[in-house]
Amino acid sequence: MIKVAIAGASGRMGQMLVAAVQAADDCTLHAALSRGDDLALRLAGADVLIDFTRPEATLSNLSICAELGVRAVIGTTGFDAAQKAELASYAERTAIVFAPNMSVGVNVVLKLLDMAARAMNEGFDIEIIETHHRNKVDAPSGTALQMGQVVADALGRDLQACAVYGREGVTGVRDPSTIGFATVRGGDVIGDHTVLFAGTGERIEVSHKASNRGIYAQGSLRAARFLASKTTGLFGMNDVLGFNT
Ligand SMILES: NC(=O)c1ccc[n+]([C@@H]2O[C@H](COP(=O)([O-])OP(=O)(O)OC[C@H]3O[C@@H](n4cnc5c(N)ncnc54)[C@H](OP(=O)(O)O)[C@@H]3O)[C@@H](O)[C@H]2O)c1
Repeated sequence: MIKVAIAGASGRMGQMLVAAVQAADDCTLHAALSRGDDLALRLAGADVLIDFTRPEATLSNLSICAELGVRAVIGTTGFDAAQKAELASYAERTAIVFAPNMSVGVNVVLKLLDMAARAMNEGFDIEIIETHHRNKVDAPSGTALQMGQVVADALGRDLQACAVYGREGVTGVRDPSTIGFATVRGGDVIGDHTVLFAGTGERIEVSHKASNRGIYAQGSLRAARFLASKTTGLFGMNDVLGFNT
């Protein structure tokens, strides 16, 4: 049995995760954690913490995981570069899976995007469009940024330099070396992502649409099982799904 602790257990994802752990034959709920809990006390004895909260909370939780040797599955998004570096530093002391999207389907899409971008490396304008519910606090979504990173890496471009986040006014003609991002927020949309390759005479759209948050919980449990054999290191869902072997 994998002893799983859940951070942010009262949140949208936290509630899904508690239900998924309780339904899984090979997992047991060690602790459902809330803001204000004594983490060091409640995490002791857990095999893995699954954390979908906010960057500051996640980093504080990870420092305790590193001290106690508790593995961690991190689904929180919205980290800046310095926070990502801090997160990576904890992987020297415990094993971490960090993925802005835990869905198996999205991670298959990332693999497809790598292939598509390599084949369409000339003559195609690339735009990433994402839609999420009205309560999402960061933009573009971590998944959209990850899609952009995969495409930029495949094309040998620097995402920082070539990303365009929204357009307004007299923008001039489109620079073909850019990767555009468009963000839509509203309603209860769980998460839709489309990468558009717009060429002359044809358009290719690679899309993923989430209709149930359970996909992120199931992916997180898969990541927790993957971590059972690891003691240190920073991993992504591509490692969990065996794309790097
Ligand atoms: N990787 C993925 O596949 C994936 C999928 C979906 C969502 N996400 C990300 O997961 C995160 C949570 O999403 P959500 O929709 O579940 O959000 P949510 O419903 O707002 O839940 C956030 C949870 O984190 C807790 N929290 C927030 N700030 C905290 C702090 N400073 N200290 C301790 N706990 C804190 C909240 O506790 P209170 O109720 O006390 O505020 C709540 O339980 C977001 O970053 C989202 O983008 C990732």
